[in-house]
Amino acid sequence: MSEGAVCVGAPAARWGEGDSVRFSITLHGVSRDAFAVCWHGEVRAFVNSCRHQSRQLDFGDGHFFDEAFDALVCCHHGARFHPQTGECVEGPCKGAFLTALTLVERDGALWASPSAYSGSG
Ligand code: FES
Repeated sequence: MSEGAVCVGAPAARWGEGDSVRFSITLHGVSRDAFAVCWHGEVRAFVNSCRHQSRQLDFGDGHFFDEAFDALVCCHHGARFHPQTGECVEGPCKGAFLTALTLVERDGALWASPSAYSGSG
């Protein structure tokens, strides 16, 4: 399997607040679920794997934000992650980080890359 960049959509300037997209990316030869979200005008992408029990944060519906729109929330046990850094700020894995992906704009689109991937989560 290729470990190249994956197109996740339009350039960040065309995303709206709270927009999200789910996609798959290959990391170390393994296809992983991932997602990108727009928060405070910036798009961030993470591997969709909670640091508590390695389960997907959402129910498969691309819903990641809490009601207050200030955290990404795991639907299983409520871990709350900072949308910019991916750090768990509250919950059973407090202090752990979601695995961030690198985003770059190229050819009129936004691409996620595993180049920043260094963890096992
Ligand atoms: S699996 Fe996410 S909080 Fe438990």
